[in-house]
Parts: sequence; structure tokens; C-alpha cells
Amino acid sequence: MCGIVGASAQRNVEPILLEGLRRLEYRGYDSAGMALVDEGVLDRVRAVGKVQALADKLEDGPRPGTLGVAHTRWATHGGVSEDNAHPHVSSDRVAVVHNGIIENFEPLQRRLAAAGYTFTSETDTEVVAHLVDSHLAESGDLSTAVRAAVSELDGAYALAVVCRDDPHTLVATRSGSPLVLGVGIGEHFVASDVAALLPVTRNFVYLEEGDLVTLTPEDYTIRDGNGAVVERPVKESGLSISATEKGGYRHFMLKEIHEQPRALAETWQGRVTARDILASSIGPTAEEIFGRVEAIHIVACGTSHHAGLVARYWIEAMSRIPCNVELASEYRYRDPVVPKNCLFVTLSQSGETADTLAALRYAKSREDGYLATLAICNKPETSLTRESDLVMMTRAGPEIGVASTKAFTTQLLCLLLLTGMLDRRPDERAALAANIRGVDTALAAVLELDEAIRKLAEEFVDKQHALFLGRGPMYPIAMEGALKLKEISYLHAEAYAAGELKHGPLALVDENMPVIAIAPNNEWLEKVKSNLQEVRARGGKLYVFADAESGLNTGPGITVLDMPHVDDILAPIAYTVPLQLLAYHVAVAKGTDVDQPRNLAKSVTVE
Ligand code: G6P
Repeated sequence: MCGIVGASAQRNVEPILLEGLRRLEYRGYDSAGMALVDEGVLDRVRAVGKVQALADKLEDGPRPGTLGVAHTRWATHGGVSEDNAHPHVSSDRVAVVHNGIIENFEPLQRRLAAAGYTFTSETDTEVVAHLVDSHLAESGDLSTAVRAAVSELDGAYALAVVCRDDPHTLVATRSGSPLVLGVGIGEHFVASDVAALLPVTRNFVYLEEGDLVTLTPEDYTIRDGNGAVVERPVKESGLSISATEKGGYRHFMLKEIHEQPRALAETWQGRVTARDILASSIGPTAEEIFGRVEAIHIVACGTSHHAGLVARYWIEAMSRIPCNVELASEYRYRDPVVPKNCLFVTLSQSGETADTLAALRYAKSREDGYLATLAICNKPETSLTRESDLVMMTRAGPEIGVASTKAFTTQLLCLLLLTGMLDRRPDERAALAANIRGVDTALAAVLELDEAIRKLAEEFVDKQHALFLGRGPMYPIAMEGALKLKEISYLHAEAYAAGELKHGPLALVDENMPVIAIAPNNEWLEKVKSNLQEVRARGGKLYVFADAESGLNTGPGITVLDMPHVDDILAPIAYTVPLQLLAYHVAVAKGTDVDQPRNLAKSVTVE
């Protein structure tokens, strides 16, 4: 999704803005731009493609500036072109960068065009630049003009605005899209993500909905949505710069796959004792709330949704509490029945996914009310964590690769912890606690298959399609495996509950259709084996991830990858890893952009 960086300093901010954009590249984008103010001049440079294309243009580009805004754009309104890239400029003096969507841009555009403004892009953002300029003509003050402009906007936005005639002031505001203020010494910054500013500051103010900040190198003032001056806490980020760097790995995705044992250990530590799983570890009220839960609604998007689908198997089997799992984009637009004492759970790596956030707000607005809301989230200080009653952080650390890996497995572990917290049987909880404490060792053993999977991946390079099969909790894992392959290798992949094979997808099976099956030695194994026979009988080529006790062996038409034995309950977490590695190695072999796959964004902050 789009990224914003802005700075007001006593030094040239061009390199700060450029480095900030590089650090936001992981979010996904298609063009980039920058506007710098210096001695009464506003210079703007924009480029389609990578931030490097912008950097190349800046080589011979504008004069240095001590004030500036920069942006990476992920197209929503208007195609990918230099004219549509941000910043958008009005009257050669106002420059605006914007994340989000302005829903009422068309009537505003008509009004501004009638007032004499010329539009040079197809974006919704350009109206903001002209709107600020028109208000500036009235008030002469940038903050006043931005406040007046945003009062006319419907939709979601984070905005950063500079003006040629006010060479030290940057004004930024948010409503529906994240924005942080970076506090330096004699310099101040804004960004849509702390990662952008880590090289220049560790001190951040997480702006709240409706906040508008006016900053200069020396000072900043925050006003809330009512225009009142407010103090917001300055928080020190615990993130190290290296946490957002590749650290010797070829891609962030590979680094993040290999970080999973450590990430999972972080997830359970402090929450699990030798004999119990502690609800109190997620807040003083959690135990009492969980004791009253009679139903659960889990809502999420993309990979996070797959984690929820696995949790349904766990929660219903162990705690006997009915659990509904739904895509946030569907949930928010229907009228779901809210059972008595229902816990509403959101899952999100970013904590800013527009549909998930909207679903949470919708749930909170329901008159028939939920018992409580719980966010399972990887990023601290997000809209989702702020607006939920309970928060369980996944603690995976920054995830930069667009395709989610460690955020997913740590979500699964959080959901397993939740399952334990909801289970009222002490012996079962104790057994689960013991299993969870072994998860990091189990994952480390799975990662040893990396090289074997790299070799296997070579067989997929010339394929166009793939089918993934699983049963029980392995069905959502098959869905996640198919999604990973689609996202980064652009192979068409679909997942089916293995029992559904004969109800349609079997028609697709021939020697050109690789079929990947996940077959741990569990209660579904014999059923899965029968489904595999159905594939073999039709000449399909099978790739099976199974443990040694499954009784499956490599032979004609079937390649078995031996997984280390893991306890049933941990199998969904363990069997995710070879599928991540498969997608990764197929993508590398095909030469795609692994960390920033085409058309995708890391954090989808628009509907
Ligand atoms: C985007 C990302 C996916 C992610 C989904 C939900 O589509 O590319 O990897 O699963 O958003 O994001 P969230 O941050 O809410 O987990």
C-alpha cells in the first residue's frame, strides 16, 4: 500500500526521504515521488517503478531542501503513470501526499474545476492539493487550510502537506490510515510506518484518528479532531534497524521463514508455564471474560483468515465453544446473528487492514453487543490494537516480505494459546502447554528440509497450475500453501478439502497438474490416502508432505517429502513451513520479485 515520509529539518532532507521510501518498499507500490522546499522554490520529482528509478532521477535532480514530503503509490484511482504519482501540486506552491481513498473526490473536482483549477491526474488525491490551496488563499495559514480542507473530505486518509511559502512547516493529519510523528533533535518527521524513520529517530508519537500535527524543525503541535491542542505520549520504539534488514539472507521472505523458531518461542514465552496457559498474560480482565465466552466470531483477511480457519478446528474440538470464521470484507456487509456472550476476534499482521478494522467497528456498533473484542496482531500501536478490549501480540517482529510467513505461524500459535485459555479442563490445558513449549524445536527440525524442497521446486518451474489438498485443520493449511504459491510465483494454485476432489477438481487432474498433499499421521490420514489414490488413478503427479509413520513412500507418480514427527496439535504450524519454502523456491527459480510481488501490498489500508 502507499507509503508516506515527510521531514522538516535543518539539513537536506532528500536522503532521509529517499531512505524512508526504501524502507517502505515492502508495503508494495508502483511509483514514487518527492517534493522539496528550499528558499521559496518547490521542486517535485516523480517516477514510475521502483524507488531506485526516483533515486536515479534525483541524481541530477532538484536542489536540496530542508522540508519535504515523499510517497510510494499503490494505484487505486487512475493507472500507474508519472502524472498519477504523488506528490500532487497546486498553484506551484502546495504539495500533498496521501494514503487512502477520498470517496467524494468527484463533486469536489467539479467545484474546483469550476473555480479555475486544472487537473493533471486521474487520482482522487489531486483534489486535496487544490482544496488546500483554495483554503490557503483565504486564511494564509497552512494548518488552518489543511484543517478546512479535510473537513470537506469523506473517506480514509493520511495526508502530509507542505507549502513553498512556509519553508519550515509540514502539516499532516490522519483519519482511517496510519501516521506516526517522528521526534528528533532539531528535526521532526512523519511517516505511515515507523520502519521508514528508524535511521533518524527512535521516538514516535502514534497519531490518533482525526489528529492534525503541525511541525517545524524545533517544535510540533498536535490538535485533535475538534481542533483542541492535545498532548500525545512520545514512545520509544524497541525496533532495531537491523530487524528491518535482510541480515545475510537473499530475501526478506527467506529470512522470515527461518526466523520462525525464534518468533514462536517469543510468542509463547511468558504465557505458558510447565502446566498451564495463562489468560492473565493478556490482561487482568481476560480470565473472567474467557470464563463467560459461549460463542466466538473470528474475522480477518488473506493469510490471517486462514489462521482463523485452523483455529475453528482447535477451539470447537477442545473447548466445545461454537466458532464462526469469516472474511472481514464479507462480515461487515451482512447482518450476522450475534450469539449470547460472543467473543469477537480479529486477526491481523498489520493491525491496519481496512476491512478488518471496519468489521471491528461494525461489531462494536452492534446493539446486540459482543461480550468483548480481542485483537491478535503483530504490530503494536495500531488502530486494531487501540480499539480492541483485549490484545494478544503475536511478537513475530517486523515482517517485510509481502507474503506473510512468520506472522501466520505466530498467529496460529496465539490461537492455540487462546484455545488453551478457553479450555476449562486443567489436564488438557497442561498437555497443551507441554506441546506448545516444544513448538520452536519442532519448527527448527522442519527447516532442515530447506535444501530438499529447493530441489523439489525445480519440478514446478514450468508448471501453470497446482492443486493443494488437505483434510481437517490441514485444509486451511493447504489454502495457505496455494495462496503463497500464487502470491509470489504467479502460478495458478487452488486448495481443496481432499474429500471434495471427486466433486469437481478431479476433472483437472492429468500429468501436467501437480497435486500437493499434506498428510500428517493423524485421524484423517487413511481418508487422505484414499483421495491420493484417486489422483494416481488419473495419472496425476503427487507431492506429499508426510511423516515417516504415515506409511507413504516415494514411487511412480508420487514423491514423498519426509517431515519430522510432530504432535497432532502442532501439525498445522509445522506443515505450513514446507509450503512456504516450496513457494519461495519456485518463485526464486522463476525469477519473480519475491519480497514485492506484482500488484500486491503488504498492508491493505483501503477497502
Ligand atoms: C494483504 C497481505 C497479506 C495479508 C492480508 C491481511 O493482502 O498481502 O499477506 O494476509 O493483507 O493483512 P493483515 O495485516 O490484516 O494480516
